[in-house]
Amino acid sequence: MAMIIDGKAAAQALRAEVGREVEALLAEQDVRPGLAVVIVGDHPASRAYVRTKTRMAEAAGIAARLIELPAEIGTAALLERIGELDGDPDVHGILVQLPLPDTIDEAQVLLAISSAKDVDGFHPANVGALFSATRPDPDRLLVPCTPLGCLHLLRQTLGADGLKGQEAVIVGRSNIVGKPLAALLLAADCTVTVAHSRTRDLADVCRRADILVAAVGRPGLVRGGWVKPGATVIDVGINRIEGEDGGSRLVGDVAFAEAEKVAGAITPVPGGVGPMTVACLMRNTLTAARLQSGG
Ligand code: GUN
Repeated sequence: MAMIIDGKAAAQALRAEVGREVEALLAEQDVRPGLAVVIVGDHPASRAYVRTKTRMAEAAGIAARLIELPAEIGTAALLERIGELDGDPDVHGILVQLPLPDTIDEAQVLLAISSAKDVDGFHPANVGALFSATRPDPDRLLVPCTPLGCLHLLRQTLGADGLKGQEAVIVGRSNIVGKPLAALLLAADCTVTVAHSRTRDLADVCRRADILVAAVGRPGLVRGGWVKPGATVIDVGINRIEGEDGGSRLVGDVAFAEAEKVAGAITPVPGGVGPMTVACLMRNTLTAARLQSGG
């Protein structure tokens, strides 16, 4: 049976470390990192995520603001609100929760956050810096939170040098996870394949992987038979499905009960990558505050 990778414990340790560094920044430079989280509309899962993000930020000593805006706000008014936050010296990080309502121009909104305050790492300047760096340094560069969390869990599981030369397959090519994670794993000396919904013989491609990452949002897509024996499996999916009892439960993109019999190590859902995403947002907010205050 696979070792279960405890993302909750890893995230708790990372948040505690960020908390200590936040206090040090406050003591040394009189700067308290500030985070603004913007949510538009009433997507229930997104509302729960943003509440967790602001609550965890406060617990780490970060001054967090949750800005809840109606779905009807429109692109122009949203841009104006983001412009105000971007000009506020107490706000070091801005996150606009995705997805946005269809009526809003997402690309324009993300461009309105200056690259220095882009704690999601979605700004083209940050994306370009990540892809062009030979050794991207998360203390100097804002890297997307979920891929950063995946990398942290992989390093913890495989050791600092354990990624070198490994065959990594990422299923999913999103800007939030698949593409930036490919850049991080390439920089960590993995041989990287990015597979997606049009990939031929997806199961065969996955079976090559020493490191298999599923980030597509399709419950149980990756079956036990797709996993190479002993592989490390990182499940980024968070899907709510109907249970037999009429209630609902969260499952990942990996058929966990099958995959844990084959893998060497595997992240659970919930309690795997999800908590790491939030912890990495705290880390990025601290990094943004440090960089903006000259450190
Ligand atoms: N929606 C799902 N994941 C994310 C994320 O990492 N950042 C933002 N802004 N929205 C998301």
